[in-house]
Amino acid sequence: MTPAYREIHARLITESEAAIRTLTPAATERPLRLHQAMRHALDAGGKRLRPVLCLAATQSIKPSADARHAAVALECVHTYSLIHDDLPCMDDADLRRGKPTVHKVYDQATAVLAGDALLALAFQLTAAHTPEIARDLTAVLAEAAGPGKLVGGQMDDTIGLQDAASIERLEFIQRGKTAAMIAASLEMGAIVGGADAKIRQHFRAAGESLGQAFQIADDLLDLDGDPVLLGKPTGADAAKGKLTYHGILGVDAARQKIITLTAACLVSLDTTGGDVGFLKALAQSLVERKN
Ligand code: IPE
Ligand code: IPE
Ligand code: MG
Ligand code: MG
Ligand code: MG
Repeated sequence: MTPAYREIHARLITESEAAIRTLTPAATERPLRLHQAMRHALDAGGKRLRPVLCLAATQSIKPSADARHAAVALECVHTYSLIHDDLPCMDDADLRRGKPTVHKVYDQATAVLAGDALLALAFQLTAAHTPEIARDLTAVLAEAAGPGKLVGGQMDDTIGLQDAASIERLEFIQRGKTAAMIAASLEMGAIVGGADAKIRQHFRAAGESLGQAFQIADDLLDLDGDPVLLGKPTGADAAKGKLTYHGILGVDAARQKIITLTAACLVSLDTTGGDVGFLKALAQSLVERKN
């Protein structure tokens, strides 16, 4: 990665984290336990991929536009989905972003409620944009977070190998639980940048390819990644009977699929006609990611 790429990436992470701090409630608000649990999850770090994608998409079209509320809304939905994903009734994970999971530090009821609160907060944030942009942001985020996408994908993911494995089912799961939010990140950034329907669609398509590649890589990291670098346990997917690309077609085919999907993402990004150099470099950097 070039120094210019690194500099922009670091700046966008700093901007995302500052916006997360400013636009979400402090741990001192009442009820303390709820807000502390939300902050525990939000402040633990993570790659901030979704807000970074959103801010970068806006800046590729209209650098002066302020996408911070949209970016934080995306991180709120994502963080809620992780808190619930880690619950004992779902993936039952003890570690997230290098810290004990919310239900471990607090309890399951608090983790459910912290997730619920983050989900609602996200729509308060999209509603804070100017009316036309707020309407489009809210519609895009609601669809990505909803029954046909994030929640639907999570539903089928929990059924996993108890039902017949097929690429068609796997792609429904990956498009839903992961790619939809990554596509929404780019599309929401484009909306704030004032993109028309056609350009929005190119950003969305880029995110759909990138998001699928991202989940195939996540599944490979669960197989052979370093839990310290990942900040979460590995080996859980096999133990839980999850449906994965490499489980159906093998590790080599999975790695090849990541490359093919990333190439498709780059083509879609180019088609937007925006200043997408950073976004392309970010997409490429995820091919070899270790966390
Ligand atoms: C983890 O997402 C859940 C998946 C969709 C695979 P990330 O890998 O983006 O998690 P953080 O935000 O960096 O913790
Ligand atoms: C989670 O997929 C996707 C969502 C949270 C919506 P995983 O269950 O594979 O994510 P990790 O591996 O726990 O981060
Ligand atoms: Mg899961
Ligand atoms: Mg999980
Ligand atoms: Mg995983």
